Amino acid sequence: MKDGKTAILAIESSCDETAAAVVVDGRQALSNVISSQIEIHKAYGGVVPEIASRHHLDNINPVVEQALCDADTTMDEIDAIAVTCGPGLIGALLIGLATAKAYALATDKPLIGIHHIHGHICANYIAHPDLEPPFMALVISGGHTNIVEVNDYNSCTILGGTRDDAAGEAYDKVARVLGLGYPGGPLIDEIAKKGDPEKVHFKRVYLEKGSYDFSFSGIKTGVLNYINQEQQQGREISVPDVAAGFQEAVLEVVVDKTMDAALSRGEDRIVLAGGVAANSRLRQMLQDRCDEHGLKLYSPPPILCTDNAAMIGCAAHYRYMAGAFDGLDLDGVADLPL
Ligand code: KG4
Ligand code: ZN
Repeated sequence: MKDGKTAILAIESSCDETAAAVVVDGRQALSNVISSQIEIHKAYGGVVPEIASRHHLDNINPVVEQALCDADTTMDEIDAIAVTCGPGLIGALLIGLATAKAYALATDKPLIGIHHIHGHICANYIAHPDLEPPFMALVISGGHTNIVEVNDYNSCTILGGTRDDAAGEAYDKVARVLGLGYPGGPLIDEIAKKGDPEKVHFKRVYLEKGSYDFSFSGIKTGVLNYINQEQQQGREISVPDVAAGFQEAVLEVVVDKTMDAALSRGEDRIVLAGGVAANSRLRQMLQDRCDEHGLKLYSPPPILCTDNAAMIGCAAHYRYMAGAFDGLDLDGVADLPL
């Protein structure tokens, strides 16, 4: 790009959002186009991988063109092409990868593959220009729940993750059981505000002492059992109370473990990332605990919490600066380790 700045065209297609963005110097999103398929997958109560791939294929070229247009940029001004290479739905990842490779080959620009979780964390560099590593991050979304120690722009250590369902997945499943619709996270967030979290108690699952892992698969059964038991007794169920009770059981564990990870490692900053990071109760609980212990909490605005390509462009900037490029043989990996 001109003026000694670096401009990256980034593509994200790991799940049900087809997204492209132009990011300058890792901190400024000149454009951030997101074509969501939520309305299509709503009918099925969740993302159908094959349908997601087909829609990515239809949407990817217009979305990339829109991202360049919104940024008032042409390919001549782009320094590198970044793309999510995993983890995610393999068919969905491959559409983004094929597109990014085609642009890289046709324009002879470097290609940079980005890990989706790393991207989510980097959304915070766009939202908070003063933020620099090291810090503790909680990545909480429909596909992941990880506590990550971010050592540097290009290096992080996962301290723990979910052993079964991701937190967002638990939100979506419980919302379905409660008849709320899809995606369940934002719906539970809203309805729980009208409920009393003390009315219905669900088990908090902490696993072994000192573990930063999570397990959320049991809570859906807990909610189902509670509903069946109440129905058998002829009692009416309060959806707001159940939603609030469920949310409290998930978030209490998440917040406790994140605080423990930060405090035990002497980190004075916590960074939130991923779709569930948009949750109002999670933000409030973590903020209260951070205030109590003198820690600073960073979180992105909702549009940078859920899947987007600006976060991928930001992550790619730091790999670009380190000269960490990928070849055209870059492959998509559904369960790519961080
Ligand atoms: O990061 P994301 O767009 O996709 C993945 O990488 O998984 O996250 C989507 C997830 C969904 O499970 C959705 O229900 C959840 O984020 N989510 C929320 C909220 N907004 C989105 N969960 C709880 N509260 C919210 N406000
Ligand atoms: Zn995501």
